[in-house]
Amino acid sequence: MGSGLILGIESSCDETAAAVVERGAWTRSSIVGSQIATHALYGGVVPELASREHLRNIVPITRAALAEAGCSLADLDAIAVTSGPGLAGALLVGITYAKALAFALGKPLIAVNHLEGHIHAVLLKAGNKDRASGITSLDADVTLPMPALALVVSGGHTHLFLARPLEGVWKYELVGRTLDDAAGEAFDKVAKLLGLGYPGGPWIDQLAQFGNPKAVPFGFAQIKNKAHLEGKAPRTKGALTAPISALDRHFLFSFSGIKTAVLRYVEVHGLRASCEARQQALAAIEASGHTPTWRDAQQLCDQQTLDLIASFQHAVVGDLLRKTFAAAEAVGAASVLVTGGVAANRELRLRFTAEAATRGIPVAFPTLALSTDNAAMIAAAAWPRFLAREFSGLGLEASPRLTLG
Ligand code: KG4
Ligand code: ZN
Repeated sequence: MGSGLILGIESSCDETAAAVVERGAWTRSSIVGSQIATHALYGGVVPELASREHLRNIVPITRAALAEAGCSLADLDAIAVTSGPGLAGALLVGITYAKALAFALGKPLIAVNHLEGHIHAVLLKAGNKDRASGITSLDADVTLPMPALALVVSGGHTHLFLARPLEGVWKYELVGRTLDDAAGEAFDKVAKLLGLGYPGGPWIDQLAQFGNPKAVPFGFAQIKNKAHLEGKAPRTKGALTAPISALDRHFLFSFSGIKTAVLRYVEVHGLRASCEARQQALAAIEASGHTPTWRDAQQLCDQQTLDLIASFQHAVVGDLLRKTFAAAEAVGAASVLVTGGVAANRELRLRFTAEAATRGIPVAFPTLALSTDNAAMIAAAAWPRFLAREFSGLGLEASPRLTLG
């Protein structure tokens, strides 16, 4: 073994990312090139545009990651890349580039499951304070007792896994998942409906603090009424086709109903026109050459809309919270970890932290930067595989529907 440096490459959705991580724990660099500006015009990720942007950005972003890490390609021990789940064309860009590098350098290639990457983001520390001083270190707080119940909650996924390392190899057991939309998808769709920016999660997160979370009592459809979905794949991009019959129904999620409930509220209360006006006003700010912010949106929201936003977020976070802690108890998890884009949400962090304290079970989140898609988590997840010499051949293909557990 040489330097312990692994180059991670991530291109499964709408961020092109490269990172260098040492021995699975020390983030030497993590560069994320967001495509938000490209997709914002369409209010969602356009697969063809994502592939084109990845092609344009992958080489400069990888170079920037190496430069920031202060190392060259020759110093690397291995190249790790996300092999799925995700958008086929987008995954292919990262995989093809990683294969070319591995072949040219004669270094091992390691395939990483994107969901496993999100779980490893929690085990990584990339503190800016430490980065500024030039020293990165393992964070003592994230030495979690195992097994951990991991909630992976993002724009494409809402999954519960029981995770544990066994003789150096991480094992994952699927405990729950969404039957339809991912939680982040619900944030994005509701934000779009209300005329807010894209992606919607951060806008709703900011605006929710000005509303009354108890104003609109959203309920969740009983999952047992959805038995007709048995065996059907969810529509989300990280679809898992494992039959739900194998899972405890108490740990299944469904977020398409609340999105419809918000739509109905907007219709019934005559808010449709103000949503459209808000969307146009934000577009006008954009057209004038300024990037609209949530502060602009706040000026454009009446109290009823702010209450609706706060109530929506409160309901989604409450549902995630109840099912996650119930699952943790049922499967005997020693800790809880929450990761993925929605784990950046402030109400979620506060309420999970408070609940964990009440129950006396440790909870951990990634840093904010590592909550959303990045490549440091891919390089970190690759380290145990590197030690176990679990390498991929150059025949590695994209697996858009790759499962975990
Ligand atoms: O992990 P991620 O970058 O990409 C996927 O794998 O999907 O997650 C992006 C998702 C989007 O749906 C976005 O709206 C949501 O995470 N998100 C948030 C917040 N920040 C990002 N949702 C709620 N609150 C936030 N602060
Ligand atoms: Zn992700």
